Amino acid sequence: MMLLERVTELREKVEKEVITTVDALEIFRIKYLSKKGELSALFEDLKVAAKEEKRELGKTLNDLKQLAEAKFKELSESIESLSTKDSNQLDLSLPPVSNTTGNLHPLNLTRYKIIEIFERLGFSVADGPEIEDDWHNFSALNFPENHPAREMQDTFFVDRNPDFLLRTHTSNVQIRLMEKQTPPIRSIMPGRVYRNEAISARAHCFFHQIEGLYVDKNVGFADLKQTLFQFAKELYGKDIEIRFRPSFFPFTEPSAEIDITCLICHGKGCNVCKYSGWVEIAGSGMVHPNVLKNCGIDPEEYTGFAFGMGVERVTQLRYGVNDLRLYSENDVRFLKQFKAVF
Ligand code: DAH
Repeated sequence: MMLLERVTELREKVEKEVITTVDALEIFRIKYLSKKGELSALFEDLKVAAKEEKRELGKTLNDLKQLAEAKFKELSESIESLSTKDSNQLDLSLPPVSNTTGNLHPLNLTRYKIIEIFERLGFSVADGPEIEDDWHNFSALNFPENHPAREMQDTFFVDRNPDFLLRTHTSNVQIRLMEKQTPPIRSIMPGRVYRNEAISARAHCFFHQIEGLYVDKNVGFADLKQTLFQFAKELYGKDIEIRFRPSFFPFTEPSAEIDITCLICHGKGCNVCKYSGWVEIAGSGMVHPNVLKNCGIDPEEYTGFAFGMGVERVTQLRYGVNDLRLYSENDVRFLKQFKAVF
């Protein structure tokens, strides 16, 4: 074989070497770089090469020597940085372990998106307790003494003191805000709420709400409509339509349910919207004068609107998730599908 071919062949060999242990590194050194190594042998042969070829061959051979030395240096540094014990177990030919950082839960993605929109509309974020007393969850909100929501079937009461319960909505935070703050108040209240329901695809014993409250002088129903219309357009796109249906809540008068165009069928009718073309996304209304009074706010001076929506429902419409149980089963195959869509 010609000397040049032998140099090329040796170069390929050196390049292909995979070394992970101190022992293998020593073998590499002896094989290529020692006095009796393959490189030295080639240098010996170079001495007897034809004069015209010497220059070119010498250069190629020197390049190869530099490559082998650089590789040896690099490998010894990387092996040295590991302990001898570990380096014996390290297999550099294995595929790298990918650096997965995880992603946010779909309910959090929706919650952050909703908060971001309302913050831009001038709302601050308020928080309150999940274990609440009757006053803040029911009485101050104008629920009559015999309201069915207070019954054992609907509410989780604390056994040792039934005046305490797991809040059934985040409206308790509205009361707490109005009790301690003089208007103007413009806040949203995200949080977890609890209801005594059998778990199925459409119901769960806990879910998440975001409520909103705006109390000031001269706040009217038109402000409520415009705020929620703006919100729906920001969240679902400018083609969305919104409608208000008369409804009843003890804490608002008048009250309305808010529907938007069904995003699954775009208004044509499907089983999500029960073939109506509309889906309900929130309850709302003008804060009842009794509620303002209960919190020490003069209803002659101030008025306000309030609304409340379920985060699970909004998430269902954003991502097409049709079973509530998926949100709390912690199945990573479900969870890892959701990348931030801020
Ligand atoms: N609290 C209601 C519920 O849990 C939702 C709601 C309706 C909140 C109307 C409000 C409102 O603030 O004004 O079903």
